[in-house]
Amino acid sequence: MPVKVCAVSSETGKTARDLKRMKREGRKIVAVTAYDWRVGEIVDGCGVDLVLVGDSVGNVFAGLPSTVSVRMRDMEYHTRAVSRGVRNAHLCADMPFLSYQTGERDAVRNAGALLRAGARSVKMEISASRHIKAARAVTDAGIPVVAHVGLCPQSVNLYGGYGIQGCTPESADDIYRLALESREEGAVALVVECVPPALARRITSAVDIPTIGIGSGGGCDGQILVFNDLVGLTEGVPRFVRQYCEAGKIFSSAVEDYVREVREGTFPPPDGEND
Ligand code: KIV
Repeated sequence: MPVKVCAVSSETGKTARDLKRMKREGRKIVAVTAYDWRVGEIVDGCGVDLVLVGDSVGNVFAGLPSTVSVRMRDMEYHTRAVSRGVRNAHLCADMPFLSYQTGERDAVRNAGALLRAGARSVKMEISASRHIKAARAVTDAGIPVVAHVGLCPQSVNLYGGYGIQGCTPESADDIYRLALESREEGAVALVVECVPPALARRITSAVDIPTIGIGSGGGCDGQILVFNDLVGLTEGVPRFVRQYCEAGKIFSSAVEDYVREVREGTFPPPDGEND
């Protein structure tokens, strides 16, 4: 009699396999970043498919000029926090600068620490072939890798800015090659940041894993935005961002009301009035 094997997961949330199925079925993948448990819980409750604890935490949470100062202990702390709020989405955490560029051993150890903090996959910026070797080692250790190609913000000091990448035929071919090699070496998804839409489409149709675009047009299998950008908490967002509300203004107006009421003595209300 054939043995019936049931797929039982000890963890919660979508898996890399679920995301791959969404690509096959032509369903768009919606992804967003989160840095604390409550925002994790809110975006999870809105039905997003993937929550990324991005190293953009350095910019949007800590107010740093780039992501290069973000450390492993920052990523572990925020991943642990967000994991408390995320139940249904796939939780991915960024490998910060110098957590894998220094070699395969570091890559595996650091990726493992993010899994132990609650992530179900890690994202690695792939701006050179040797990063793919580190990604392969992480995959071989049993940890799903999302490969980030195109604009890799950890290399900002090499680029000299955050401009669109892949604008010449040679650089487009380089990014295309890194994307395909990442897939061959086991990546479960690709984040494609700030490349011309035609290149994003070319990558998307060449791979069987989902591509999640940011600033790369509408031809990817999904989209990702930084939470603070999409709710209007960031000032001076890139042109490709759509701000769905003005949370910065809503917060300011609430706190201004509070400041005024405390100063004029209308908050708290007179004793007994709120009972
Ligand atoms: O760190 C981050 O938030 C990211 C996304 C913008 C893709 O890498």
